[in-house]
Amino acid sequence: MTQAGPAPDPDQREREAQLTETVLASFAGTPDGRLRELVTALTRHLHAFAREVRLTEPEWQAAIAFLTDTGHLTDDRRQEFILLSDVLGLSMQTITINHAAAGPVTESTVLGPFFVPDAPRLPDGGDLARGAPGEPCWVTGSVRDEAGNPVPGALLEVWEADEDGRYDVQYDDRRLAARGRLTAGPDGEFRFWALTPTPYPIPDDGPVGRLLAATGRSPMRAPHLHFMVSAGGFRTLVTHIFVAGDDLASDSVFGIRQSLVKPFERQPPGAPTPDGRAVAGSWTRVRFDIVLAAD
Ligand code: BEZ
Ligand code: FE
Repeated sequence: MTQAGPAPDPDQREREAQLTETVLASFAGTPDGRLRELVTALTRHLHAFAREVRLTEPEWQAAIAFLTDTGHLTDDRRQEFILLSDVLGLSMQTITINHAAAGPVTESTVLGPFFVPDAPRLPDGGDLARGAPGEPCWVTGSVRDEAGNPVPGALLEVWEADEDGRYDVQYDDRRLAARGRLTAGPDGEFRFWALTPTPYPIPDDGPVGRLLAATGRSPMRAPHLHFMVSAGGFRTLVTHIFVAGDDLASDSVFGIRQSLVKPFERQPPGAPTPDGRAVAGSWTRVRFDIVLAAD
């Protein structure tokens, strides 16, 4: 990378400030007040950034090339722009702004690119692995409102990577595995078999991966199990649970909330399972009690 130019003298600083003001003024007549606020703040911050770092022309060109590559890699199967937002912490910042921690309501985190609508239906106590490799995990929990009343029939959509760190949609054989949809019972309770989550890298073969490599950052996500929970009259919750005791220090998309870190208790081989299922090796169990916010 080239070095930034020298610090500007007062005249130069004034010329730069003038340009910023001219651009701001060009947006002053934006009829939609919110759009005016957005483009005005964007201009202020972009110009302040360029002036603070003394942006060079090769750096400007490199940034344009990076965004162009990001666009070229984005289609209806891969969203490199969202991935960029994720690794810059913008996705989590937007979630943080829009989902203030409110009393007992379960915290939200990133959706990620691997959600699939209309995943297979799971019966109560069913196994969402559908043959995906991994250590079995018995998941139980409840869905309640802020007053502690059960939310019967709440829809839970659950998905995760297999023990090789891949989601079903990352294989070429159109498999549907390690995902499912189930409903909470009349008492708001749910139970199902899943896989003990394992760490995996976010897709890092594109510009976002190059950014992580160039900045010495890891592409790994902390092990997690995704949930989307919806019910009439409630805000849809998009969240994960994380595995207590695993490396939670460096999640590449900043998705960890302490309240979402749960003990996955490992049971030794041969330990009786809650539903009598025969499990050859060890298995884990975890409980996730969910509180939905009123809409
Ligand atoms: C995920 O957890 O599936 C994910 C989230 C953000 C970026 C990539 C993957
Ligand atoms: Fe994930």
